[in-house]
Amino acid sequence: MTTTSPLGTADLAHIDLLAYTWARGVPHDQFDLLRRESPVHWHTEDGGSGFWAITKHADVKRISRDPRTFSSALGATFIPDQDEETLMMLRLSVLNMDDPQHTRYRNIVAKGFTPRVINKLIEDIDARAVRVVDDVIGRGECEFVNDIASKVPIQTICTMLGLDDELWPRMVELTNMMIGSLDDIGGENAGQMAAMEVYALCDQMAAARRAEPRDDIMTALVNAEVDGQRLDDGELNMFFVTLIVAGNETTRNLLNHAMLAFIDNPGEADRLRADPSLWPTAVDEMLRYGTSIHNFRRTAAIDTEIRGTPIKAGDKVVMYYAAANRDEEVFVDPHRFDIGRKPNDHVTFGGGGVHFCLGASLAKAQIRATMNEVVNRLGNPQLAGPVRRLKSDFVNGVTHMPITFEPIGS
Ligand code: HEM
Repeated sequence: MTTTSPLGTADLAHIDLLAYTWARGVPHDQFDLLRRESPVHWHTEDGGSGFWAITKHADVKRISRDPRTFSSALGATFIPDQDEETLMMLRLSVLNMDDPQHTRYRNIVAKGFTPRVINKLIEDIDARAVRVVDDVIGRGECEFVNDIASKVPIQTICTMLGLDDELWPRMVELTNMMIGSLDDIGGENAGQMAAMEVYALCDQMAAARRAEPRDDIMTALVNAEVDGQRLDDGELNMFFVTLIVAGNETTRNLLNHAMLAFIDNPGEADRLRADPSLWPTAVDEMLRYGTSIHNFRRTAAIDTEIRGTPIKAGDKVVMYYAAANRDEEVFVDPHRFDIGRKPNDHVTFGGGGVHFCLGASLAKAQIRATMNEVVNRLGNPQLAGPVRRLKSDFVNGVTHMPITFEPIGS
């Protein structure tokens, strides 16, 4: 939940963006202070080397667009320090590659996610969203996360990859376990067990597509060549996991935050129902306000500086997207949810550059389809119990959100 109570300079000594983030929701009070007083802030880390916390919009953009200075591969893109073996595995994902390798791998799947390709999927995405709301509309209540938000994202990415329909619910469970390791989802070692299950599934699918190609992303992956070589099993597994997790957790949680934003701001839902021409700006505002990924990390490849603060080669630099998205130098009244906001140069999909979110067009289509059904059919939505948040300093997650509503026009 948004907190705007002002903190003072003395509070800089108590900034904690690791434990704090999941305990109370997005720490906007700390982000406001950091942007104002310490925009390039040295953050200590129990059991880790510490990192620079970056909270200004301009800095997130500059770092994202300078991958030679700020590497995704050196230390990978997650905050914790990794041992060399884990790093080697993480570097099999496009997220954790630098050029020239990054472009070669990204190009294997990039043509499956262009706005033109996604436009062709829109009818299908819209129809799925209608069915999701059909299933709950008669009840007057639902558990929003599982009954609504989880459905369209997993169905779409599984269909694009070529996964059979009956596997969809299991894929939601598995990605939850992989992302929720701080939250003990599924118990001890659940993350590792889930990853093993996903890899095994990927191996089976790869074998099936080699024998019998289809028009899906898995077929593109098994046929792809980088420098004359086919992808090996490890590379296929990491691609598959990256797409499943990135295509699922992010959009689902964005939908959860969009629902919360409309519950807190019912006037904005009225405004959107009255003027559907506001949908494009509304979707961008849901993205800005809900920022469902907290951060990605870079590692300085050379000695450099940010805002005059020296950064040494090897230092970790963490970009806080939710902080940049509330930067008062860029957004007027940044803590306000305003579905007509224009311009809206949010960094929810990253600050631009070569790692800019591959699924941005897909995510926008899914958000528009699902929230269109929610806003136009579920009137007067109210929380019917406590909202449970995911304990994660990476995904801005909601795991449980019971709501009531009054069906509109039925
Ligand atoms: C609201 C939903 C989403 C959010 C907030 C989001 C956020 C992001 C961000 C911040 C990055 C930049 C990573 C970096 O700079 O290191 C990224 C990259 C990526 N996203 Fe998304 N994403 C979303 C939806 C999706 C979807 C639906 C897919 C579909 C598969 C997807 C696939 C990817 C991939 C593959 C990358 C890595 C791109 C690269 O490294 O070249 N994302 N995403």
